[in-house]
Amino acid sequence: MRVIIEKDAQAASERAAKLIADSLVTKPDFVLGLATGSTPLGIYEALIRKHNDGKLDFSNVTSFNLDEYVGLGPADPNSYRYFMQESLFNHINIPPENTNVPDGRALDFATYCQQYERKIVEAGGIDLQLLGIGRDGHIAFNEPGSSLGSRTRLKTLTSETIRDNSRFFGGIENVPRLAITMGVGTILETRKCLLVAFGENKAHAISQAIEGAVTAQVTASALQLHPDVTVVIDEDAGRHLKRKSYYAEVEESHRLLESN
Ligand code: GLP
Repeated sequence: MRVIIEKDAQAASERAAKLIADSLVTKPDFVLGLATGSTPLGIYEALIRKHNDGKLDFSNVTSFNLDEYVGLGPADPNSYRYFMQESLFNHINIPPENTNVPDGRALDFATYCQQYERKIVEAGGIDLQLLGIGRDGHIAFNEPGSSLGSRTRLKTLTSETIRDNSRFFGGIENVPRLAITMGVGTILETRKCLLVAFGENKAHAISQAIEGAVTAQVTASALQLHPDVTVVIDEDAGRHLKRKSYYAEVEESHRLLESN
């Protein structure tokens, strides 16, 4: 696991966007796993800027999003599909038919979730998966207790997540109780993961995920089992990490190797 600590959220967003952009240019038919929430917004803005500057072409890229609220359609401003259209897809040249966000209005969820998994495999698997983290250490909507081998499925949201996300819904009572989410097992099969977190309210989850034990109680800790994970955080989110000086030494080694 490579841990990169930047000064603030803006610097961390630029760094994460550069890592994504550098990966994208190595393979035109890249399969990009995307995330929602407030954390990726600065990254999406930076990617749009690179696209507008002619440095990023998404015309052969396929995307898969991690999750969606059950019951919300694409026209609902709180749906993750709507969020992705507004924050990224409408501003880049990714073909609409190449963008995949789980359908919160699927009729037969069990079959639909299997189809979503199959679609990822048929696309060749996810090359890079962008991930945020919940305050309870969840990735996607894999709440504490989710199996570390779980696949795309329905998940009941915890009261903590419902409370955290109610800021978008104008009240706790409006937040859906269920979501479709890629599983931890699905995420562990991606070729590369990029975990991002900003702010002190994520510091506890980040320290548990990176330096704590691997446990289903903190599903982001399962990333310790993944062979290629980069974590990009700001100083506030890294506040409780114990091995910060070592992470800085590793970054210095990377800089030296890259300058040679
Ligand atoms: C939701 C999403 C997660 C996201 C988390 C944190 O629970 N399903 O993918 O990481 O929110 O969101 P934010 O970035 O707004 O803190």
